[in-house]
Amino acid sequence: MKTKEKILQKLRTAPGTFFSGEDLRAELGISRTAVWKNIQTLREEGFSISSVTNRGYALLEEPDILTEESIRASLSTRQIGQALRVFSVTDSTNNEAKRQALQGVPHGTVFVAEEQTGGKGRLGRNWVSPPGLGLWFSLLLRPHCTPQQASRMTLLAGLAVCRALQKEIKVDARIKWPNDIVIGSRKVCGILTEMGAEMEQIEYVVIGIGINIHDGCYPPELKERAVSLDEATGKTWNRAAVLRAILTEFEEILQENERCGLQTLLSEYRSQCVTLGRTVSCSRPDGEIRGQAMGITEEGELIIQTENGEKAVIYSGEVSVQGFYGQK
Ligand code: BTN
Repeated sequence: MKTKEKILQKLRTAPGTFFSGEDLRAELGISRTAVWKNIQTLREEGFSISSVTNRGYALLEEPDILTEESIRASLSTRQIGQALRVFSVTDSTNNEAKRQALQGVPHGTVFVAEEQTGGKGRLGRNWVSPPGLGLWFSLLLRPHCTPQQASRMTLLAGLAVCRALQKEIKVDARIKWPNDIVIGSRKVCGILTEMGAEMEQIEYVVIGIGINIHDGCYPPELKERAVSLDEATGKTWNRAAVLRAILTEFEEILQENERCGLQTLLSEYRSQCVTLGRTVSCSRPDGEIRGQAMGITEEGELIIQTENGEKAVIYSGEVSVQGFYGQK
C-alpha cells in the first residue's frame, strides 16, 4: 500500500477526528514533510482534510467517485462485494453481471458503473443512468434454490435498500410492491432481477439496483414520480458510502434468512410496504383490476380484494397505488 493510502486508512478509522502529524509520522516511519506532502496529494484528489496546528489532520469528506478503493474502504462484509468490478461506463451492470456469470465469477460479486449507456428498467423500459449522479449496480448471487424461491431474493434486496436508507441516511424510505423504494410518494430506487436457470436449478440471479442520488439523475419529465436522495434530505451523499451500507444490510438479511427463515423478514417487508391497505389498480390482459391491497403471500405475491368482492393474486407487473407517482 502506498504511503498516501496508509494515511487515508488511518484518517478513515475516525472521520472528523484529528490525528497528530507526529503520530502519523512515527507510525509510518516517514518525515513530517512526507506526511504533509501526502496530505496535499489527497486534497488534490478531492479529499477534504482539515489541518490545525497542534492538533494535526482530520478527514472531513471523501470525493464522490466510485473506485474499487473508495468502495472497499471500511466495507466489512465477508461475501457480498468481496469480488468487485467497477466500470466507468458499461451498457448495463445487469448485462455485465450475466456475461461474467457465464465465466464463473463467484457468489456475491458486485458490478458497479459510473454510467450505463443501455440501463434497463422493469417491463422492458429503459433506465436513464447518467455518469456520476446515481448508484447503478448489480449483485450476482448463486443461491441453492428453485426459480420460485429465487424471486424472494428480490424482496430481500428491496428490504436491504429500505433498511440501509433508513439507518444510514435517516430518511423515511418505504417499499412500494414489488420492489420500488419510495420516499414520500416518489421513487428513489428501482430493482430489476434477472436469472439464469437450467431446468429447475438456478445457475445465478442478478439483482440490478438503481438509486437516484444527486440532482439531475432522472429525466425532468419524471419530476412528479421520482426523487433523489439529495433532494429528499437537502444534503449531498457519497455514493460509495451508500453502496457500502446496502451491501452490509443485504449480507445481514441473507444471514437472517439462513438462520431464522423468511417469516420474520416477510413481516418486516409487509410493515415497510406502502402498498398494503391502499387502493390499487393493475392492468392485466383480461382487463383492469381495482381494489384494496390486502396482503403479501409467502411467495411475495400481492393479494387484492377487488371492488366486486373477489380476491386476485398478482405475481408481477405494474400496480398503481393511489397517492403515489402522481396517481389521483
Ligand atoms: C425499475 O424499472 O424500477 C428497475 C430499474 C433497475 C435499474 C438498475 S440500474 C443497475 C442495473 N442495471 C440495469 O440495467 N438496470 C439495473
